Amino acid sequence: MRISYGWRGDISSRELNALHAEAFETRLFDEAEWNWTAMCEQHSLGWVAARNEDDKLVGFVNVPWDGLVHAWIQDTMVADAVRHQGIGARLIAVAVEGARSAGCEWLHVDFDDDLRPFYFGTCGFTPTNAGLIAL
Ligand SMILES: CC(C)(COP(=O)(O)OP(=O)(O)OC[C@H]1O[C@@H](n2cnc3c(N)ncnc32)[C@H](O)[C@@H]1OP(=O)(O)O)[C@@H](O)C(=O)NCCC(=O)NCCS
Repeated sequence: MRISYGWRGDISSRELNALHAEAFETRLFDEAEWNWTAMCEQHSLGWVAARNEDDKLVGFVNVPWDGLVHAWIQDTMVADAVRHQGIGARLIAVAVEGARSAGCEWLHVDFDDDLRPFYFGTCGFTPTNAGLIAL
C-alpha cells in the first residue's frame, strides 16, 4: 500500500476525532467538542498526516511548539488495520525533519513504558529525565 505523508497536510476534525477514538479507545468527540484543525493551526508548528491511496487518513502526529527552539510530539496515532508497517516511524521521521527545518533544537516526547521500543528503539529518541503532574 502506498502511503503519502504531508507535513501540515490536509486534515479534518471529523477524521481526526474518528482516528483518535480508535487509537486511544476514547469516545468519539464531535467537532464542537474537539476542533483539531483550529487547535493545530493555532498551537502547532506543524503536524503530519498519513493518507492511503484512497485518501483515507491512516496516521497522524501533532507537533506543538514554543515558537522558537522546543517542539513536542503529541497524539501519534496509526489506524489499527495498518499498524506495524512502519507508518508510525515515518510519521515521527517527517515530524523530526519539519521541526529541524523550522530551526527547533529539541523535540520532546513522553509515553508509557510499553512504547519504549517504538520511541527509543525505532524512532531514535534518547532517554532523559522528565516530569508530569496529572491535573
Ligand atoms: C504507537 C503507534 C503510533 C505505532 O504505529 P505503527 O505504525 O504500528 O509503528 P511502526 O510500524 O512504525 O513500528 C515500528 C516498530 O516500533 C515498535 N512498536 C510499534 N508499536 C509498538 C507498540 N504499540 N508497542 C511496542 N512497540 C511498538 C515495534 O518494534 C515496531 O516494529 P515491528 O512492527 O516489527 O514490531 C500505534 O501503535 C498506535 O497508534 N498506537 C495507539 C495510540 C498510541 O498509543 N500512541 C502513542 C501515544 S504516546
